[in-house]
Amino acid sequence: MENKELINDINNNINEYIRNIKENIDTKKALVITHGCQMNEHDSEKITWLLEKMGYIFVNEVEDADLVILNTCSVRHSAEDKVYGQLGNLKNLKSKKKDIKVAVCGCMMQREESRNYVMEKFPNVDIIFGTNNIWKLPELLSLSYGGKKLSIDIEENPLNIDNSLGANRLYNFKSYVNIMYGCNNFCSYCIVPYTRGRETSRKPLEIIREIEELAKSGTKEVTLLGQNVNSYGKNFDDRFSFANLIEEINDIKGIERIRFMTSHPKDISDELIYSFKNLNKLCNFLHLPVQAGSSRVLKMMNRKYTKEDYLRKIDKIKNVNPNIALSTDIMVGFPGESEEDFLDTLDLVKKVEYDTSFTFIYSIRENTPAAKMEQVPDKVKHERFERLLEVLYPIQEKKNKAFIGRDVDVLVEDFSKKDDTYVSGRTDEFKLINFKGNKEDIGKILKVRVKDANSFSLVGEKIES
Ligand code: 5AD
Ligand code: SF4
Repeated sequence: MENKELINDINNNINEYIRNIKENIDTKKALVITHGCQMNEHDSEKITWLLEKMGYIFVNEVEDADLVILNTCSVRHSAEDKVYGQLGNLKNLKSKKKDIKVAVCGCMMQREESRNYVMEKFPNVDIIFGTNNIWKLPELLSLSYGGKKLSIDIEENPLNIDNSLGANRLYNFKSYVNIMYGCNNFCSYCIVPYTRGRETSRKPLEIIREIEELAKSGTKEVTLLGQNVNSYGKNFDDRFSFANLIEEINDIKGIERIRFMTSHPKDISDELIYSFKNLNKLCNFLHLPVQAGSSRVLKMMNRKYTKEDYLRKIDKIKNVNPNIALSTDIMVGFPGESEEDFLDTLDLVKKVEYDTSFTFIYSIRENTPAAKMEQVPDKVKHERFERLLEVLYPIQEKKNKAFIGRDVDVLVEDFSKKDDTYVSGRTDEFKLINFKGNKEDIGKILKVRVKDANSFSLVGEKIES
């Protein structure tokens, strides 16, 4: 599918369907609801780009929409339940508003069990597609408008066609860029390898061209996306690592900040660690999911590192770049987790001192190895979750308070959520900061003096230049 001519042919085909809808359908108000990770957010940007080409405008309420697309996530049970709840509401809505079209896409649709469940329980769904064939949306919509009861298409493997689509980016100054797809790690709790398939990396030149184009149209910050970015390039014949890729991006004019998500601790190389010192545009921020602090649990999770391995890597990173802010994913209540194992997690958290964290209660995912292991009672899981937060938040507060009095560079992203005389943005360390500002500040990198802080964000004052 690397073949340029083939992609051109397919793009011509897509354009045919786009034109068909643009010219023949006149009820075109759409709402795209996105669940899950940045990958999904970026996929939704591609979906809205296609919709806009077809002439759709966007609304905020399902009641106002002619087309609702649910971009789903399977990583935890609660994410799936939310989608089923929304589909139930849409079923009711459709009984009153017959013409409304409902489409479901994303990770849940890559999984046969969830797909079958949706088809069986929600006959109101008109269109189903997956994570590897967003480009099919105009064709599936055309079929649906043509009277087809259910237009469905699923592609098991990532193709290069979705990359040839544009993306309706929420902000033009910061952009997500996919660098690889899939995951080969098979952590025993995780469904992603079954939904997103095997690891494949996009060619460096293709990624660099995309970022050069983005820089020309105003992008200052790129976030490189992949389930496991440290394995970037493993499917290439010649050796071209993730660190090599960042080095190339570091040279692109106009790009001022580089971030990435997500890296696996077992694969983080010294080469990448030294990039945090040597590459001026690589931000002082690393998200390195630990999942658990007990080596015994990590083994059962199939994570392929011990508590000590992880702590050694963190020490190395802190030595190379003492300013780095650290973030993680942590799970409590993995099957078989004892009180002693949990205390190991608390111990690790205290040693690392994370700046920010994403915390989860283990959720059974059907047909993963952990689903068959002995489960921890719900009450114990919830109690451990609360105890974990009680340790994490004061550390985060201490780390944020250490910023008070410092001058930081902030990429201003939007008006503040609570008060529109304030704007909010991110420091190099990915810390959220609010300060008095206006529309003209949005999209700029400004110097801000930090005045206050709590566990989750900073408050600052713009430094007049
Ligand atoms: N239950 C709870 N959390 C999970 N994650 C992945 N699978 C599960 C699960 N079954 C969490 C991990 C991962 C993050 C994206 O979601 O911490 O890093
Ligand atoms: Fe899931 Fe593990 Fe792959 Fe992350 S590395 S996507 S947790 S299997």
